[in-house]
Amino acid sequence: MSKIWSKKPMSAYENDIKNNQMKKVLGKWSLTAIGIGAIIGGGIFVLTGTGAYYHAGPALALSFVIAGIACIFAALCYSEFSSILPVEGSAYAYAYGTIGEIFAWIIGWGLILEYAMGSMTVAVSWSGYFNKLLKMFGLHLPAYLTSDPASYTGEGFAINLPAFLIVIFVTSLLIRGTKEAAKANNLIVMMKVAAVIFVIVAGLFFIHTEYWDPFIPPAAMVREGDTMKEAYGIQGIISGAAAIFFAYVGFDAVSTQAGEAINPKKDVPFAIITSLLVCTLLYILVSLVLTGMMHYSDFDPYGKYPDAIKAPVAYAFEIAGQSWASYIITIAATVGLISVLMVMMMGQSRIFLGMSKDGLIPKMFSELNTKTKTPSKNIMLLGGVIATVAALTPISKLADMCSFGTLFAFTMVCIAVWVLRVKSPNLERTFKVPALPVIASCGILINTYLMYKLSDDAKLMSLIWLGIGLVIYFLYSRKHSRLQKGDYESETLKMEQDPLDFKHKI
Ligand code: ALA
Repeated sequence: MSKIWSKKPMSAYENDIKNNQMKKVLGKWSLTAIGIGAIIGGGIFVLTGTGAYYHAGPALALSFVIAGIACIFAALCYSEFSSILPVEGSAYAYAYGTIGEIFAWIIGWGLILEYAMGSMTVAVSWSGYFNKLLKMFGLHLPAYLTSDPASYTGEGFAINLPAFLIVIFVTSLLIRGTKEAAKANNLIVMMKVAAVIFVIVAGLFFIHTEYWDPFIPPAAMVREGDTMKEAYGIQGIISGAAAIFFAYVGFDAVSTQAGEAINPKKDVPFAIITSLLVCTLLYILVSLVLTGMMHYSDFDPYGKYPDAIKAPVAYAFEIAGQSWASYIITIAATVGLISVLMVMMMGQSRIFLGMSKDGLIPKMFSELNTKTKTPSKNIMLLGGVIATVAALTPISKLADMCSFGTLFAFTMVCIAVWVLRVKSPNLERTFKVPALPVIASCGILINTYLMYKLSDDAKLMSLIWLGIGLVIYFLYSRKHSRLQKGDYESETLKMEQDPLDFKHKI
């Protein structure tokens, strides 16, 4: 039983890096675009209304600052790790070498919430935006083709066809090769950053500065469904940070691409931090513009603009008499979400690849296509499951679970990087977190607190999910683990006997 705490030796990571057959095609800017591609999605266009009305008022900008800081702490820790271990498994791989197998497994399993479940919810939101776009051009898809069977109120069969098809499209792009996918991502990222800058600049002309006064509204009760909820004040800023956290989800996907980076030890840390800083700045500006354009109390779903909270940014422009802007926002969100989906699916496939190389999930997940050098079977299976769930279940109601999985991984990475610094201080690190004990403790505290602030349903469902993960670990993974079978010990031995071939720096 004690073996479940065993750690993967650093020499085994080195061996993984040496034997990596994936094509190294990602440079510094493509990696940064992968980060931005995953971060900017529907979150900023949708959650800002909820954040302003139910939580922070104009101080929503401060909620974005807090969530941004929580992410920066984690981003710094991810960066140090990726500068030591440029492998594809991200938080899972980092934990395996530092905290032990069972923890690594549970983190890998939790990352499914972030990446695979995130992909499913993104596919469903994409379908919503796509329908909206069609409607803007006078086209209507029947409800039975745009709803999952559980949410469909009509008679007979229903399927969310756009959600299904977009996943299949992205799957086919990912199978073609990482370089091709990265090219498409670069293009989409340029477009969506331009759209966000457009929102900020165009919105500046319609700001009423008096709406920002008071900037932090005093604590008050607001109605949500049948219950009254506490909002605003300092508490509101903090709960707002948890509510909009989803908008930041994704930057860690950069670390899952380390196996395909040209210069991973330098470029992955750069890309993680740069993409996060760029998006944090954009998000703060968007939230300031939004709460300046529309009074936060006008997002009340029982007030004079009941629909404003569903599409706050587009609505604010409509109220300002600039309906044309909502075309741009809808197009940007529709196209922009494709890259979120692409990066999330790519990230999930690479985490499975790492877990499979270690024997914790079947070998099929780490088989590379001989031509494209992508894990094509892994991607196809993943695409099939994501497409089916997105098309047939009311998955979007579970989006908070995605934030849970992400915050859980962030917390673990902050712990793991600290453990490794204490245990192996002499490892070569091309990036070092400054004042690590402070940054890591703040990261652990703030990410755990945000996790605690998520809805009770999300917490319960996520814990059940992690429980299922433990059952699978004991039934399958533990028995197939290469570490448990002693494979890595023989590798270490081989490395010691052949120091020229296996140059390890530990
Ligand atoms: N951060 C991504 C979004 O907001 C997941 O859609």
